[in-house]
Amino acid sequence: MKVLLINGSPRKNGCTSVALAEVAKSLESHGIATEAAWIGNDPVRGCQACRTCAQKGARRCVFDDDVVNRLIEKAEAADGIIIGSPVYYAGVNGALIAALDRMFYAGGAAFAFKPAAGIASARRAGTTPTIDQLNKYFLISRMPIVPSNYWPMVHGSLPEDVTQDAEGLQIMRVLGQNMAWMLHCIEAGRAAGIEAPQTEQKVFTNFIRPLS
Ligand SMILES: Cc1cc2nc3c(=O)[nH]c(=O)nc-3n(C[C@H](O)[C@H](O)[C@H](O)COP(=O)(O)O)c2cc1C
Repeated sequence: MKVLLINGSPRKNGCTSVALAEVAKSLESHGIATEAAWIGNDPVRGCQACRTCAQKGARRCVFDDDVVNRLIEKAEAADGIIIGSPVYYAGVNGALIAALDRMFYAGGAAFAFKPAAGIASARRAGTTPTIDQLNKYFLISRMPIVPSNYWPMVHGSLPEDVTQDAEGLQIMRVLGQNMAWMLHCIEAGRAAGIEAPQTEQKVFTNFIRPLS
C-alpha cells in the first residue's frame, strides 16, 4: 500500500516539506510505502470550466501542459493521499488551488474512498481555514479524512523553525500512524469481502430543478 504526499508549496524544501517528511517517516515505520510529489514552480492553469473532462468521463484535464494530469496519475496509483499547503492569506496557496480544482474535477474517481488528510504550514495564523479548504476536496470526493491528535498544522517561516515545532511534528507522526491503521483496516475489510460501496448515480439540481 502506498500514500501519495503532495507538497503544494512553491518551495520544494520549505516548511511544508518538513511536515510531509515527518508523516512519511511515520507511515513507513508502520509498513506503508510513500511517494512524494511536488507541485513545482511552473505556472498552473486554473479550471476553465470547459467541462470536457466531465462530459467524456476522461479522468484527465483537457490541458496537459502542467502538473495536474501527472498528479491525477499518481493519485490513481495510491491508496491514500496527503496534501500539504503553506498558508497564504489564511488559505491554500493559489497555485495549489488551481491544481486541486482541476485534479478533483477531472480525476474524482481516482480519489474516491481513499483516506486523505490536508496539512497546513503557517508562520503564525490561518491554518484552520486552510485545513478546512483542503478538507472540502476530500469530503465531496467520498474520501475518509484521517485524524491526528490536533488539527494537522506546523509553524515556521523557515524549515528549521518547523524542525523545532515539537507539537507540530508529533501531530504529523500521529497522522501517519492513524493513516497506516486506516489503510490496514481497509485492506483487512477487503480480504473479508467488504468492498467500497456502490454509489448511487449523482443527482444534480439547481436546488430543486433538474439541470437540463
Ligand atoms: C504570499 C504569502 C502569504 C502568506 N500568508 C500567511 C498567512 O496568512 N499567515 C501566516 O501565518 N503565514 C503566511 N505566510 C507565511 C507562510 O505560510 C509560512 O512561512 C509557511 O510555513 C511557508 O511554507 P513553505 O516553506 O512550505 O512554503 C505567507 C507567505 C506568503 C509568501
